[in-house]
Amino acid sequence: MDNTGKKKFYITTPIYYPSDNLHIGHAYCSVMADTMARYKRIQGYDVMFLTGTDEHGQKIEEKAKAAGITPKQYVDHVVAGIKELWKLMDISYDKFIRTTDDYHEKAVQKIFKQLYDQGDIYKGAYEGWYCTPCESFWTETQLVDGKCPDCGREVKRTSEEAYFFRLSKYQDRLIQLFEEHPEFLEPASRRNEMLNNFIKPGLEDLCVSRTSFTWGVPVTFDPKHIVYVWVDALSNYITALGYGSEDDSLYQKYWPADIHLVGKEIVRFHTIIWPAMLMALNLPLPKKVLGHGWLILEGGKMSKSKGNVVDPVVLCERYGVDAIRYFLLRDIPFGSDGTFSNEALITRINSDLANDLGNLVSRTVAMIHKYFGGTIPAERTAGEVDDDLIALATATKAKVEAYADEMQFSSALAELWALISRTNKYIDETAPWVLAKDEANRARLAAVMYNLCEAIRIISILVSPFLPHTAPKIQQQLGAPADVLTWEQSGEWGLLPEGFSVQKGEIIFPRIDIAKELAELEAQQKAAREAKEQARQPEGIAQISIDDFAKVELRVAEVKDCEPVKRAKKLLKLTLDDGSGTPRTVASGIAQWYRPEDLIGHKVVLVANLKPAVLCGVESQGMILAADCAKEDVKVLFVDNMPAGAKIR
Ligand code: MSP
Repeated sequence: MDNTGKKKFYITTPIYYPSDNLHIGHAYCSVMADTMARYKRIQGYDVMFLTGTDEHGQKIEEKAKAAGITPKQYVDHVVAGIKELWKLMDISYDKFIRTTDDYHEKAVQKIFKQLYDQGDIYKGAYEGWYCTPCESFWTETQLVDGKCPDCGREVKRTSEEAYFFRLSKYQDRLIQLFEEHPEFLEPASRRNEMLNNFIKPGLEDLCVSRTSFTWGVPVTFDPKHIVYVWVDALSNYITALGYGSEDDSLYQKYWPADIHLVGKEIVRFHTIIWPAMLMALNLPLPKKVLGHGWLILEGGKMSKSKGNVVDPVVLCERYGVDAIRYFLLRDIPFGSDGTFSNEALITRINSDLANDLGNLVSRTVAMIHKYFGGTIPAERTAGEVDDDLIALATATKAKVEAYADEMQFSSALAELWALISRTNKYIDETAPWVLAKDEANRARLAAVMYNLCEAIRIISILVSPFLPHTAPKIQQQLGAPADVLTWEQSGEWGLLPEGFSVQKGEIIFPRIDIAKELAELEAQQKAAREAKEQARQPEGIAQISIDDFAKVELRVAEVKDCEPVKRAKKLLKLTLDDGSGTPRTVASGIAQWYRPEDLIGHKVVLVANLKPAVLCGVESQGMILAADCAKEDVKVLFVDNMPAGAKIR
């Protein structure tokens, strides 16, 4: 609290890797954090909601190079797109940090130098397995089947002079943190995993500098070293508030964070490396790290297209932001993975939003117009079914809060929808169309309409952090004055003034014809994929000479046999006839697009003189060619009309 008397609340999302392909899974994380920020603001907290982008590292450097532009040009372009997405999705962040911001880079350099000066960072040599996509070093024992334990991709043996952070020194304090503050990391399953699988078995010092690339924050006192991206990235939570700069008033005001919201795969960085860094800097620790689950596609991971539209822009434009927000918040219990499908989304929209909520509002407004010309008369009489509705309506606030405080939005919404259902049931119980038949029931009919409006008023307030576009629309149709719409007033009954008038408005959530919609979506998705593909810049790909090309031996080969590889979901093992008389084995990462029976009997293009490599236990003697036809749609080149063994030139 400060002298304004307002309680502070600081919530963060992870800072996103700049990608022109942020999908609905990324949006999940931001929508969750945004809902919490809105919920706290409406409760009167002074909120700081931070998001941003994590822009350094080898991966970005490589992508920019391939596109023939500088890393800064690359990130500037992509970050603009990310900001647009958050604008579209109504993500009400208070601050957006980019790790390429000058003030951040300077503060990271200061942090690194301080840790070095005080002996928490020292110079040594690193040898280990490096996963470029994850920017992570792994020890031999951490690898799974010789691959990156996080993403399952190839790792490279790497050795370099490097700086190390004395993570091992903080092991005991981390154990103490986990044991004395079980609330530090939730859900509990993730806490146990961190403590028992990572911390207690022993923490090794962490390599915190790289010399293999230049796109990052240079170490001031040894500039060929670049600060490890995770040290750079994690620092954002304090540098964004001005820590390490001339004006650290926001840091003084908001730190420590109340919640770092992160996906489950980056919990390790946030609950081991980050608190250890803060301990070394002698700074307070964040109060809580919440590790959420992933949004996955039916039958596969989010990044693989299975005929579902997962581009949040397409979804928001089609159904409106609130429908998407609702689905994300309602369908995924906190901490668990959730499945996204167009069908599940449309079903939710139709049942919960169009039928339950939308109908309640439009029926009520229509009845008040029909029976009373839009204004409820003052004379009213109570009836026996009212008490039950009033009791539930006034109790729902506390129930929603109990869950929302814990970020269990799915359960909070379930409580709210119980009130919506109860209110719809109230219409059936009171049968206003029967009351309307007899003028003698006028006062009772007025009471029923008033009660409906009161329930809707309460619902509109409670729904506002979740559906920020919809709540004002409902309140406008209700004609409710602003002074009965505070959060506190969602727990009180009878606040609408006498003689207020409702307004007819647009249908809040139109019903969707599911079969027609699914067909259209598929067509739209295909078009969007093709457009995106075309927009990709082909420039920047290095030219090769004819001599370089002549080094590649391409041959027609017939697929004689094909089977999945047990240890690698992505791989198929193919047995090929390349005309030499000796069968040749090739492992190919096409399992998500082809079943073995789709390939057997077909002729394919083989790169015959590729050095053999062992992929997940299969010795691959070459490679077959395939085309990226659209994003995430790969097609093998079939050359069925040619004889096996024919040389391609
Ligand atoms: N740059 C790091 C975070 C550094 S924080 C100091 C990073 N970026 S990310 O762009 O890959 O991921 C950002 C967040 O999006 C993570 O919390 C991640 O879990 C979340 N998601 C990415 N795909 C997701 C789903 N399919 N479902 C839910 N969340 C997903 O990690």
